[in-house]
Formats: sequence, structure tokens, C-alpha cells
Amino acid sequence: MIFAVTPGWPVVLADGHVSLRPYRRSDAGTWSEVRRANQDWLAPWESSPPGPWDQLNSPAAFRYVHRDQRRSARRGESMPFAVCLRGHLVGHLNLGNIVRRAFCSAYVGYWIDSRVAGQGVIPTALALAVDHAFGPGGLHRLEVNIRPENKPSRRVVEKLGFREEAYHPRYMHIDGAWRDHIGYALTSEEVAADGGLLARWHRLRATAA
Ligand SMILES: CC(C)(COP(=O)(O)OP(=O)(O)OC[C@H]1O[C@@H](n2cnc3c(N)ncnc32)[C@H](O)[C@@H]1OP(=O)(O)O)[C@@H](O)C(=O)NCCC(=O)NCCS
Repeated sequence: MIFAVTPGWPVVLADGHVSLRPYRRSDAGTWSEVRRANQDWLAPWESSPPGPWDQLNSPAAFRYVHRDQRRSARRGESMPFAVCLRGHLVGHLNLGNIVRRAFCSAYVGYWIDSRVAGQGVIPTALALAVDHAFGPGGLHRLEVNIRPENKPSRRVVEKLGFREEAYHPRYMHIDGAWRDHIGYALTSEEVAADGGLLARWHRLRATAA
């Protein structure tokens, strides 16, 4: 008998023009172009290995990134999604460090191409991923850790109703130093009454329009 290692993976999720799907080997060129064009936009918020940005984000480097993502997803440790807008790869969302048994929890990370920022793509992607994680993914709790200075990212989780629950001093080594982070979290009970996070997000957008 074959058991799925990661419940809910692989999967494609979509809402309107926004979709999430597993990466493909053929994403190398686009991934590299987007990452290279966004060095100043992404570097202050990401932990990355030492080395020149262009080299770490080359099409050749994507092969290693992709291999690690696939391996980790196969082991049930992550769900690494390419975020697409109208079918084009424009960002990334990962449910990582998945721990099951009595914890059933994961950390979420994301980024988007600055050229399509401010359109609600990542909140939509996050809402899709959260509903999937709490449903077919079998998880109970999701956590997002954000540098206090990262106002756009804090807006994303605050708009969606993540709970601010912790302050982590010197939490992660990013952009050359140990950076404080604010911990936000959500458990499945907190969105069940709203019919899921995507439904909550749609209602919020309709009210704001
Ligand atoms: C954080 C991030 C993923 C948000 O994605 P997004 O799809 O643009 O999200 P939204 O459209 O909801 O915009 C979020 C906030 O960004 C700000 N914003 C809007 N347009 C913007 C633009 N062109 N440039 C910068 N910030 C902008 C606004 O404050 C917005 O909040 P509001 O809609 O309540 O006004 C994106 O800014 C990003 O990739 N940043 C760099 C990497 C990063 O910070 N990753 C997260 C690490 S924790």
C-alpha cells in the first residue's frame, strides 16, 4: 500500500488570476529573471547563503533550489509553491518546517516581484495556502515571522487577521545581522467561523471596494 507522505501535496490552487502550483524545472529562466531584477527589494528581508546575488539566483542555481524543494516536499517537510499571476510566475510562497503529530504546524514565507506588488496577490496566495493547509494539508497552526520594519508584509498578515503573538529578539540572520522579528500565527479554529481565510479575504476586499 502507498501512503502519501505529505497530505495535500502536490496540488494546484487558484482564485481569479492568482494561482499556486509546484515549481517546474522549466521555471529556471523566469525565476532567475525575477529574482535578479528584485535584489534591492528582496535582500533586506531574506536569509540567504553568502555569495553574489546574481550567482545565487542564476538559472543554474535554480536547479539546486528546485532539487532541495522537491526533496523537502517529498519528505513531507514543506509545500513550496510558485505564485503565478495570469499564469506567469511572479512570486513564491512556502509552507516550511512542517511538523505533524501533536503539533501539526508550519512556518510561512513569501515574496513577490515588485513590478506586481500592491495588487493583493500575496494575501490571495496566502489565504489559498492557509485554507489548503488547514483542510487537505491536515495542519492546525501556521506561523509567519516578520521584521518589524517590514510594513508591507505586516500589512499582509494583519489584513488577513493573523494574531500577533510574540516578539523574537535577534531571531534570524538577515542582510548581514541578527534581526528581531514579530511572530504572527493563526490556528484553524480562528478561520473556521468565517468559512475559511479566502472567504474572509473576499469579504474584506468587497467591503473596501
Ligand atoms: C510583503 C509582500 C510579499 C506583499 O505582497 P503584495 O502582493 O504586494 O501584498 P499587498 O498587495 O497586500 O500589499 C501589501 C502592502 O504593501 C504596500 N504596498 C502597496 N503597493 C506597494 C508597492 N508598489 N511597493 C511597496 N509596497 C507597496 C501597502 O502598504 C500594502 O498594504 P495595503 O494594501 O493595506 O495598503 C511584498 O511587499 C514583498 O515581496 N516584499 C519583499 C519581500 C518580503 O518582504 N517578503 C516577506 C518577508 S516576511
